Amino acid sequence: MRIFIAGGSGVLGRALIPLLNAAGHEVAATTRSEVRAALLSRLGAAPIVVDALDRDAVLQAVGQARPEVIVHLLTDLGTGSSASNARLRIVGTRNLVDAARQAGTSRMIAESISWVYSSGAELAGEAEPLDPDPAEPRRTTISAVRALESAVSEIPEHVVLRFGQLYGPDTWYSRDGRYGQDARAGRLQTTETVASFIHTADAAHAALLALGWPSGIWNIVDDEPAAGYEWAPLFAAAVGAPEPNTPDSGNIGRPVSNARAHDTGLVLQHPSWREGFSTL
Ligand SMILES: NC(=O)c1ccc[n+]([C@@H]2O[C@H](COP(=O)([O-])OP(=O)(O)OC[C@H]3O[C@@H](n4cnc5c(N)ncnc54)[C@H](OP(=O)(O)O)[C@@H]3O)[C@@H](O)[C@H]2O)c1
Repeated sequence: MRIFIAGGSGVLGRALIPLLNAAGHEVAATTRSEVRAALLSRLGAAPIVVDALDRDAVLQAVGQARPEVIVHLLTDLGTGSSASNARLRIVGTRNLVDAARQAGTSRMIAESISWVYSSGAELAGEAEPLDPDPAEPRRTTISAVRALESAVSEIPEHVVLRFGQLYGPDTWYSRDGRYGQDARAGRLQTTETVASFIHTADAAHAALLALGWPSGIWNIVDDEPAAGYEWAPLFAAAVGAPEPNTPDSGNIGRPVSNARAHDTGLVLQHPSWREGFSTL
């Protein structure tokens, strides 16, 4: 199939391109940077330099590529700004969906996040509503996720992948990533909040399988949601840092269920962060 990865130069796109090539697909992938365009070529994708916030440029790029599938992996987390990432989710997704409709692309697979459910102890499945009344900055994040998921559902075949916290080489959760550096500097901020992780290799594999999944929402998380006081000491040890403190925040978080993806045939290479942190 002809596949267009919006945000192909990011941590997930770089893992996905070789998987798509190995499965025989023809891949085009976007970046805003000429330097990363060369990286995309080396990975096996036809590079397209485009800013997702430039509506005309997105319409033109997708119109020329005429993909059968768009994989939407646009995120703007480089600066850690939830506002700029929310803008990309809202405006960038709008542009991409309109471009897909204009080009006759009938399938879209989109990256979303799994930490969108209200706090609680019960496992959250995909049918559970998004947290209805969060405080800022979470309010901005949730309303942008809502906008992204709603826009993507305008495409006839649409798969939304709600990923857990991505970890693995080149992510924030790696030896030289943001949290690895924080941990070694004694600044790792963890709490008792329950989080769900997913290794980038498993996230990319899920995106590959999603080419054949029915429309809908899928939590893509590992088998072991965990509180900060469980995972943070092992993360710190994995990246050569001292044991961090995990103060109380009053937020118990929410464990997320991966039953739907599991029942659809997703077999995880790293079913738990306990073993997966050894790859950092
Ligand atoms: N679920 C999660 O936990 C999650 C998800 C994603 C990322 N992250 C974290 O964020 C960190 C950064 O990851 P990353 O490098 O993949 O993300 P990123 O730097 O934010 O970029 C993701 C992709 O989006 C593209 N992009 C961003 N803004 C764009 C725009 N305005 N127009 C067009 N393309 C745009 C980037 O292209 P350019 O080449 O133009 O920059 C890149 O291809 C990672 O360390 C990871 O841990 C976490």
